[in-house]
Amino acid sequence: MIDRDQQFAISGELAFTTNPQGARLIEIENASARAALALQGAQLLDWTPVGQAPVLWLSPGALYREGKAVRGGIPVCWPWFGPHPENPAFPAHGFARTRSWQVIGSEKLLDSTRVTLCLDATEVDPKLWPHQALVTLTVTVGTELRLDLATENRGDTALEVSQALHSYLAVGDIAAVTVEGLEGTDYIDQLQDARRLRQKGPVVIGEEVDRIYLGGCPELQLLDTALGRRIRIAQSGSASTVVWNPWADKAARLGDMGPAESYRQMLCLETANAADDAVTIPPGGAHRLSVEFSATAL
Ligand code: BG6
Repeated sequence: MIDRDQQFAISGELAFTTNPQGARLIEIENASARAALALQGAQLLDWTPVGQAPVLWLSPGALYREGKAVRGGIPVCWPWFGPHPENPAFPAHGFARTRSWQVIGSEKLLDSTRVTLCLDATEVDPKLWPHQALVTLTVTVGTELRLDLATENRGDTALEVSQALHSYLAVGDIAAVTVEGLEGTDYIDQLQDARRLRQKGPVVIGEEVDRIYLGGCPELQLLDTALGRRIRIAQSGSASTVVWNPWADKAARLGDMGPAESYRQMLCLETANAADDAVTIPPGGAHRLSVEFSATAL
């Protein structure tokens, strides 16, 4: 597989490597930023613009195991978000994040590097997922980071997909973080029996939070006064945003969050099609979910 992938290497800019735990990675370094992506799950693990601290949070206790998503970066939740709608025994957040994806393209652009991976889900066991689709992730690494997740329905019946680009963002201290852009939006509180509530003012986090905000939110801003940084998140193809921080007790239960206080250094803001916002793709049709990040000093 490594040999097949070599055709997509770009000298001095994009290389295929293996980390000490045996995970196969794509490492990108250009004049604007550095990034790393695991071939399992097409999971971005790092994006660090030149002269800045990493923008994505990667757990200091991250485990690299076949069939298990790495805690941090941007896991791809597909073709369902959260628990399977009918069968709780099926993997949470779908199967794409734990499968091996195939690299199908790479490109050196003016100030950025682009890599495209795909997962052919026409070959998945029909007991797990009785549909035919091709899912493609295009990642563009520059002073901005962009991810485009495209689903093509290759079957002859309509396909319903829920999904998320499950971004873990690095923050200086969760107590010094404010999220703007969700004011007045209704959300499903996953910690209160899916109660529907309305957000008043910006989002601040002082306890475990697990919410699905409903309604299009083309731009979110994470203001981090501890790191002196603003992260802008532009979203499209999405009418739901998930906000998640496990806080101390759940972090301890997860087992791969690292030292006890690590949950204070992360916040998940996930670009989603979740709950009421699941998308229906007609036969032969496609849907694209996109997110773009930029980080600047406050
Ligand atoms: C979030 C969900 O998207 O992902 C949470 O809203 C969940 O309910 C979290 O706990 C992490 O999920 P996992 O499967 O990666 O541990």
